[in-house]
Amino acid sequence: MRQHTEETLTDAVIARLGKISDPRFKQLMTSLVKHLHAFARETKLTEEEWFEGIKFLTAVGQKCDDKRQEFILLSDILGLSMMVVALNHKTPPGATEATVLGPFFVHGAPEFEFGADMTKKATVPGEPTWVTGRVLTVEGVPIAGATIDVWQARGNGVYDIQDPEAEFELRGRVLSDAQGRYAFRTFKPAFYGVPTDGPVGKLLDAMGRHPMRPAHMHAIVAAPGYQQVITHVFVEGDPYLDSDAVFAVKDSLVGKYRKVDSADEAKKLGMPNPFHRLDWDFRLAPAGEAKARKSIAASDAVT
Ligand code: BEZ
Ligand code: FE
Repeated sequence: MRQHTEETLTDAVIARLGKISDPRFKQLMTSLVKHLHAFARETKLTEEEWFEGIKFLTAVGQKCDDKRQEFILLSDILGLSMMVVALNHKTPPGATEATVLGPFFVHGAPEFEFGADMTKKATVPGEPTWVTGRVLTVEGVPIAGATIDVWQARGNGVYDIQDPEAEFELRGRVLSDAQGRYAFRTFKPAFYGVPTDGPVGKLLDAMGRHPMRPAHMHAIVAAPGYQQVITHVFVEGDPYLDSDAVFAVKDSLVGKYRKVDSADEAKKLGMPNPFHRLDWDFRLAPAGEAKARKSIAASDAVT
């Protein structure tokens, strides 16, 4: 058929997908066309609105470079990133839950000794915090030699990679010891806003939404024979836990940062007194039990 109406056009476009040989790609394209057309029909999309949409997506693309990924941010604030996490990470009972990766992960962060100070190169002061715990199986058996790759924003809400002058601030890799234990010194995380100086910031504003993320530390925990988990530890009591701009909060990921005021304990740990302390165990599911998230590609390391 040569001529199409709003009733026949969707099927006509889908019929042209017949030559796709990869069945999964075919399924994805068929569904995409179906839902895009349904969106236009349902909303009776006007030409002006459609062109506004094109202009917006163009601006999102133009904002991207090797350090800034506005499309990931768009996916995050629309809840699509967390939908993909939810669909692909049915965490087995007892395992640490996965959440959004976000755009600020960097490959090759420095490795730290047990108990090392990750704040040494910090350019913004923060509240000294001792983070310690174990990496365990879901049955509670210690996992030795697990890698815990952690990163967090400075107290002013900016990640090191958003600052051209900075390198590897408040990020690093620690290994669990023979008893599965790990420890390091950092700052207590602070809440912060996702970048709003681009089209996604304007979209948030137009939707009457705030850009804030509750305070958190990111971690990717990996060990041979276990599923890698990309996760966060949020701070109990944070005012944005119920309205995270990227919908990434899970109850099981909210941690208690205790205030410690003990000269003895501070001395033992090499901390100033008083300080904060987070005791946090990561629990990994065995490999192969569910589909593991593919290891992070170099292209993910963007702001
Ligand atoms: C983050 O936590 O680093 C983040 C996650 C999603 C969007 C922006 C930032
Ligand atoms: Fe973050």
